[in-house]
Amino acid sequence: MSFLKKPFKLGSIELPSNVLCAPLAGCSDVPFRRMTSRYKPGLIYTEMVKMDALVRNDPHTFRMLDFERSMHPIGGQICGSKPEIAGACAKIIEDLGFDVVDLNCGCPVDKVTKDGSGSAMLKMPQKIGEIISNMVAAVKIPVTVKIRAGWDANSIVSAEITEIAEKAGASAICIHGRTRAQAYKGPANWDYISMAKKAAKNIKVIANGDVFDPLSAKGIFETTGCDAILLARGTMGQPWLIEDIYRFFEEGTLPQRTSFDYKSALLDHITHIISYQPERKALLDIRRVGCFYLKTGRGTKHLREALNKSASIEEVYFHINNFAWESADFTPLPSSSPEACESLTC
Ligand SMILES: Cc1cc2nc3c(=O)[nH]c(=O)nc-3n(C[C@H](O)[C@H](O)[C@H](O)COP(=O)(O)O)c2cc1C
Repeated sequence: MSFLKKPFKLGSIELPSNVLCAPLAGCSDVPFRRMTSRYKPGLIYTEMVKMDALVRNDPHTFRMLDFERSMHPIGGQICGSKPEIAGACAKIIEDLGFDVVDLNCGCPVDKVTKDGSGSAMLKMPQKIGEIISNMVAAVKIPVTVKIRAGWDANSIVSAEITEIAEKAGASAICIHGRTRAQAYKGPANWDYISMAKKAAKNIKVIANGDVFDPLSAKGIFETTGCDAILLARGTMGQPWLIEDIYRFFEEGTLPQRTSFDYKSALLDHITHIISYQPERKALLDIRRVGCFYLKTGRGTKHLREALNKSASIEEVYFHINNFAWESADFTPLPSSSPEACESLTC
């Protein structure tokens, strides 16, 4: 197969592979990244942080950027629309020890777009260029940008922004093949990514959207001709997706994970949460994380409900350890399950 796991050159650095892990606000925290980094992605991004919060030294924002040595190579993502602070923000990310800094031009939520940030930047392609230029001028690490394909289906800008980002000095552009108007409704349109790849000269194109299993990973490489892929919801509750893709590309095998694999991963993730978060926050995080490990398991509804109602960590362990895992069915459904993941806002 021609998509063998291979090193991926990004600006001045070489990543171990071209299968990358996405920034996921509220999800890709330290415990989550401890789980995914085990499976050796090419790069793992932390969740987005706001530029304004970075420059005012907000401690909560800096905690979101926590990482451990085992998580390298790691990228930090900044979100904002002010060219005048973009360079300083990129430098903060570099000084924290990150390997890559990314600009978020895809976040669809009103809270972010109302000040012109996130996907609202798609309406101002030249400003994206200006911000990237300032970031590139301020740091030595590679600068990347992550976009949605356009604000809506009538304003697809994936090719135009690829050209702008390349001129501004970005090393890669990641395209999520959905529009802002689409939110998560309907499938990602990989053709929007192909348009970007055609417009790219030297900038690397990273494809994103609806990769939930090794077959869809192969599909997005084949359809778009992209240089790398970015996994997002597919890794939520399946941190081994990265390894499954490598094994499929290298050996042609599709590993089957059992309900006991899910149980063991959930327990490991819970251990990481407990070691990282204060108890009250840990309990909330465990409920959220439980939902995504169990979402594809038929026969797990009662366990999910029980975890959601658990009032203590002891109760969480009681429910997990007393659940009949052998009766739950985690075999993949015939098609990948974007619908099942659509509801995941956690
Ligand atoms: C819970 C959640 C949080 C996300 N947070 C971010 C974020 O912080 N920055 C970003 O660029 N994209 C974010 N995204 C978008 C994903 O990185 C990705 O582009 C999107 O989910 C499409 O990929 P998928 O279909 O493989 O999930 C988020 C998506 C989800 C579901």
